[in-house]
Amino acid sequence: MDKKIELEKENNNIIDFLPLHGTDYVEFYVGNAKQAANFYKTAFGFQSLAYAGPETGLMDRVSYVIRQNKLTFILTTALREDHEIARHVSKHGDGVKVIALMVDDAIVAYEQTISRGGKSYMIPTTTSDNDGDIVKSGIHTYGETVHIFIDRKKYNGIFMPGFRKWQTAYNPISTGLLYVDHCVGNVGWNQMNKWVKYYEEVMGFKNILSFDDNDISTEYSALMSKVMSNGNGFVKFPINEPAEGKKKSQVEEYLDFYNGEGVQHVAIATANIVETVTDLQSRGVEFLKIPANYYAEVLERVGKIDEELAQLQKLGILIDRDEEGYLLQIFSKPLQDRPTLFFEIIQRKGAKSFGKGNFKALFEALEREQEARGNL
Ligand code: FE2
Repeated sequence: MDKKIELEKENNNIIDFLPLHGTDYVEFYVGNAKQAANFYKTAFGFQSLAYAGPETGLMDRVSYVIRQNKLTFILTTALREDHEIARHVSKHGDGVKVIALMVDDAIVAYEQTISRGGKSYMIPTTTSDNDGDIVKSGIHTYGETVHIFIDRKKYNGIFMPGFRKWQTAYNPISTGLLYVDHCVGNVGWNQMNKWVKYYEEVMGFKNILSFDDNDISTEYSALMSKVMSNGNGFVKFPINEPAEGKKKSQVEEYLDFYNGEGVQHVAIATANIVETVTDLQSRGVEFLKIPANYYAEVLERVGKIDEELAQLQKLGILIDRDEEGYLLQIFSKPLQDRPTLFFEIIQRKGAKSFGKGNFKALFEALEREQEARGNL
């Protein structure tokens, strides 16, 4: 390598002790995995991939794996009352347990993060079948959420050892969802900086953006947020904490119903948000409603866009711009009965930010929902 480039790399501290290749899967602990898998397939256009349960020798739980492009979800349920997963679901409701990250070496990822203060969830573990080996390890993060590091270089099977192919005649076509763009965590009062430090120190992430309660405050609801990113930007974790407002923050409502810290939303990328959202709405996915006055003013703020504004308004898609381009985004209503986890659908047209210009309109929409639930 060129000496000058080498020096620049060192100076920029580009040497990454935890190289990540992106999100491997997101695992949800749910009350009824069979029905949840069917919901995500039908409503969001996932296809059946793999299954584990009593038929594969797993006697205490079942897991359904579904996939769409580079997006893989696992829906897992306990089969017994006295079970860690049953306890988790009883406490938190359906929610995200695992954000699994692709690594080259799960042993090194474990050693690097544990030596920097990470709390162990899974010691490096190799599982094998006729299709090869997978090495996994894991650490805890906020609440009861965990990160699992996965090295699947030496594996050619359908998903992982312990799973068999899940074959079904019912495979709804894709809605164009591509991959996880970012995963947002809600943490408790005054806990944001603790978790920012955790991602910096333990996982080598950088704080790339910050929002305080002046950016993210409406008449009632307020929150603060810092966006953490790994070295190559493939993995981004914004962290929210509640802030004082006139009434209850949306983050507080989440913390109440989730009974603690956890994943607030998973943002999923699409290359054509108009087509994707049209399809999702026709399949029954509900999104937050945005008032007409948002669209009356938005082009003054964001300038020229390729899409037809009337179409975006009809679907409720939000627009924001930063120095590098613009983005289109929309937020679903909660995906389960508790007002906890939801999805964001995002199309980036150059912009690398998170839609700060939409926070006010978005939070006012959220507050209307909160008010309808009597939690404002
Ligand atoms: Fe987001």
